[in-house]
Amino acid sequence: MIDPQKIRQDFPILRRVVHGDKPLVYLDSAATSQKPQAVLDAIVQYYTNHNANVHRGIHVLGDESTKMFTSARDTIAKFFGADSDELILTRNTTEGLNAVVYSWVESHIRKEDTILLTEMEHHSNIVPWQRFAKRTGCSLEYIRVSPDGELDLQDLKKKCTKHIKLIAVAHVSNTLGVINPITDIVELAHTVGAKVVVDGAQSAPHMPINFHTLECDAFAFSGHKMLGPMGIGGLVVRKEMMNEMDPFLFGGGMIREVTYEETTFADLPDKFIGGTPDVASTVGLATACEYLTKLGMDQVFAHDHELVEYALEKLSTVDGVNIVGPMEAKKRCGSVAFTYTGVHAHDVAQILDSEGVAVRSGHHCTMPLHEKFGWIATTRASFNVYTTKEDIDALVRALAKVKKVFSRV
Ligand code: ALA
Repeated sequence: MIDPQKIRQDFPILRRVVHGDKPLVYLDSAATSQKPQAVLDAIVQYYTNHNANVHRGIHVLGDESTKMFTSARDTIAKFFGADSDELILTRNTTEGLNAVVYSWVESHIRKEDTILLTEMEHHSNIVPWQRFAKRTGCSLEYIRVSPDGELDLQDLKKKCTKHIKLIAVAHVSNTLGVINPITDIVELAHTVGAKVVVDGAQSAPHMPINFHTLECDAFAFSGHKMLGPMGIGGLVVRKEMMNEMDPFLFGGGMIREVTYEETTFADLPDKFIGGTPDVASTVGLATACEYLTKLGMDQVFAHDHELVEYALEKLSTVDGVNIVGPMEAKKRCGSVAFTYTGVHAHDVAQILDSEGVAVRSGHHCTMPLHEKFGWIATTRASFNVYTTKEDIDALVRALAKVKKVFSRV
């Protein structure tokens, strides 16, 4: 089992105190994770000693930078059980999902087709498809979420017809915390010839991902949620789909030959690297992947499971707290969100913050899901490898202050 107390030594920010004398209790890792010293060092090292543009300069630094970039790409692809030429680097999950629209959907989905989403999707996995549907007239449908916060697989079976060309689904919901059965969804989707695109933003930080075993067609992730820097992420794509994809960014670096009239594109992966890439962040993310691999993703997942189980148990005893999503820890990952009877989530978060406890409150970019369940807003505590049970105890203690403050009004 991993030891979060030992891991915390690697994260300088966790030594901070806030509001004068309150030790920081960081329970907002689903929004962004903190970064270990090794990742910070890798970025500084790159800029201090190796900075140069890649694939352009024939000089020592250019060569070093190109080698570091290539090797970092390989490390990231390997972390996801993918081959290097199956990885397109993006800024984040949002850009990865948009890339599918511009590179594949535009040329493969027609007016009479349907794209299937789920009612629990993050705005990043709704808005790009919605925009495309409005532009082209194709249909959008949503797989129902049951009252206990799970995907309704009967509804999926009913809706998975030959009109469906693509299913886009979160691996783990950022609000309900539920883990969706991707392999079952893929099996069904492939029987009707539909592609499956997975939003892996909330699964990649916590569980072992083997892209080939998952069998989906594309998997998008964000580096900053998995101990890496902001501004780097990726889209892993099956070769068959990759071969059908057009570049979505046109310009320098991604070409083979340009004349005043025509352009031919470079081979993979360069075809998808338009303009100067963020080499330092790519190197930083590769270092984060190495850090997680060293801990062992099975161990990381087991640690997360313990925290979720503990949080469900402790939070369900707090008067006023109503947990959203399934109550069985084994169905969940990464976070626990709740409403607080009679108190707005922003007020809850503000009181928690005054005690040094950082959580996210609001709609978590899942407005339609909040609307469906009639939640004005929710408060979410979310975890990572450095989170301890003591952090959850601190959350529960701070929630007592919410009761104290609001019983007076
Ligand atoms: N998608 C991130 C979250 O759920 C920002 O907080």
